[in-house]
Amino acid sequence: MGKIDDIKQPIGAELKRFHTEFEAVMKSRIPLLNIITKYILKNKGKQMRPLFVFLSARLNGEITDSTYKAAALIELLHTATLVHDDVVDEANLRRNVFTINALWKNKAAVLIGDYLLSKGMLMALENKEYQLLEIVSKATKQMSEGELLQIEKARRLDISEEIYFEIIRQKTASLIGSATAAGVASTGASKELINKFWEMGENIGIAFQIKDDLLDYSNTGNTGKISGNDLKEKKMTLPLIYFLNNISSFERRKIIYKIKYQISNARVRKNIIESVMNSGGIEYSKAKMNEYLKKALLTLEPYENSEIKSSLVELINYSILRDK
Ligand code: IPE
Ligand code: IPE
Ligand code: MG
Ligand code: MG
Repeated sequence: MGKIDDIKQPIGAELKRFHTEFEAVMKSRIPLLNIITKYILKNKGKQMRPLFVFLSARLNGEITDSTYKAAALIELLHTATLVHDDVVDEANLRRNVFTINALWKNKAAVLIGDYLLSKGMLMALENKEYQLLEIVSKATKQMSEGELLQIEKARRLDISEEIYFEIIRQKTASLIGSATAAGVASTGASKELINKFWEMGENIGIAFQIKDDLLDYSNTGNTGKISGNDLKEKKMTLPLIYFLNNISSFERRKIIYKIKYQISNARVRKNIIESVMNSGGIEYSKAKMNEYLKKALLTLEPYENSEIKSSLVELINYSILRDK
C-alpha cells in the first residue's frame, strides 16, 4: 500500500528520528524482555498515532523535543494496549504474525504490556513532560474503563447503540484524541486549541474503531488479524447491534441465546454473520463512520491549504479507507 507512505512524505525526517527514540525506549537488558521487544519492533504496525502527533503539531507550530516524546510515548502506550488486548480477546494473530500471548503465553504478555507502559511513562517523567503525562494518563484511564465496560457487556449481552459509542470513545478514540492533543500541546498551544484537537482526534478515533469493527466482518485476508473474532468473543459491535435492533423481540432472544451458549460453533457464527450482512447493518455502520469523519474534518476547515494540512486530511481519510 503506497498510500500511507505518501502521507508520511512531508515529515520523513521527523519519523526517522522518532524511530530511533522509540527503539531506544523499548530496549531492555533483561534477555526475555529483549527478545520480545525485538519481536515487536520487527513487526511494526501502521504507526498512525505518531503521524497524528507530528502532523497536528506542524499544522499549529514547530516540532519540538516534546513532540518526539509525545509520539514515542503514545505509540508505546498503543503497543502495550494491543499486547494486553490480545490476551483479553484471546487473539492469536496480529500484524500477520503470532501475538505475544500466542508465543509466550498470557503471563509474559501481561508483564510485557506493563513494562512498555511504565518505560514510556518514565521516559516522559525523566524529560519533565508533565503536560504530556497529564494528557496521556487521562487517555490510559479511559482506555481501561472502555475495555472493562466492553467485558461487562459481552457477559450480559445487553448492549445498546449508545453504550457501544461510549465503549469505542473510551477504548480507542481517547488515545487518538490524546495524540492530536499532545501534538498541538507540544508546540505550546493554548488550552482551548488543545481541547479542540482532542475533540477532533476523538471523532477520528470513533470512525477508526467503526472501521476496525467493519474489517472484522470482512474477509479480505489483509487485516493481519483473524476475521470474525469479535463475535466469537461475544463482542457486540455496531453492525450486530443494528441487526438486533431491527428484528422482532422473539427473533432477538433466539440470536442472543445462540451468542450466549453456542458461539463456539463455527456454523452458528457463520449464520449470524450472514444475517448481519443481509440486515443493512454494514451500510448503517458505514454511514455513522462517515458522519464522525466529517465532523473531524470540520475542525481543519479554517486552516489555509498547505502540504501539512493535505497530509493530515489524507491521514484522517485513511482511518476509514484502510484495509488493515
Ligand atoms: C488497532 O490499532 C487497535 C484498534 C484501536 C482498533 P491499529 O490498527 O492502529 O494497529 P497497528 O498499530 O497498525 O497494528
Ligand atoms: C480495540 O479494539 C482495542 C484497543 C483499544 C486496544 P479491538 O479489540 O477491536 O482491536 P483489535 O481488532 O484487536 O486490533
Ligand atoms: Mg482485540
Ligand atoms: Mg477489532
